[in-house]
Amino acid sequence: MDVQSSHRINIAIDGPAGAGKSTVARLVANALQYIYVDTGAMYRAVTMIALERGLSSDNEREIGRLANELEIELLPGEGGQRVLVDGADVTGRLRTLDVNRNVSAIAAIEAVRKRMADLQRKMAAAKGVVMDGRDIGTHVLPDAELKVFLTASPRERAERRFRELGDNPGITLDQLELDIAERDRKDQEREFAPLVQAPDARFVDSTGWSIDQVAEQIVEWGRAAARTISAGEK
Ligand code: DC
Repeated sequence: MDVQSSHRINIAIDGPAGAGKSTVARLVANALQYIYVDTGAMYRAVTMIALERGLSSDNEREIGRLANELEIELLPGEGGQRVLVDGADVTGRLRTLDVNRNVSAIAAIEAVRKRMADLQRKMAAAKGVVMDGRDIGTHVLPDAELKVFLTASPRERAERRFRELGDNPGITLDQLELDIAERDRKDQEREFAPLVQAPDARFVDSTGWSIDQVAEQIVEWGRAAARTISAGEK
């Protein structure tokens, strides 16, 4: 049975920075003709605007208010997902070192997480969504029909992020690995909705796997989950 004629499900892909979640999630969404939602980009957008406005990450009240006021939209685009904040395309400004270094602190603010989770649940309400992040399977979409926890070794994750930074990375690979380890620690230790594997998530260590192999595996699981649900409804 073709996935189109079967039930549409939601797929949650969680894991630490640089595990390849966004590339994999995009491929899975394309294969299933689902909508891809990059939740990290939403936290990055809040962080970028907070930095631009000179707000310090410990100013929780103002940043919480900012997160509630900003209109964040995710749109499918030619070269990947576009992120609009109050109607302006900010996609190219979300992956700077400055944003990388501040995003975990801002993503730890409860008011910011509540607002982002509300927006994310609305995006997933009609099903047929592949959403990647840190707390999707545990907190945002605990009823997602397929949950995957995707990781890779810290070195491999640093190498992937290093390539993303382009010709003038402005940082060494070793330093980037340390930054990633620090971000993992903050994401795992935060009080509200930390990065943790959901008990019912499938664990994938992609070290040594190609992105395509990982995506194919998840598509297969997704199709199987959709078939099982469709069969149960008949
Ligand atoms: O996936 P990413 O590296 O673009 O995410 C950026 C940061 O946002 C990451 O350090 C943790 C935070 N984040 C989060 O706390 N919860 C999510 N669902 C997604 C990202």
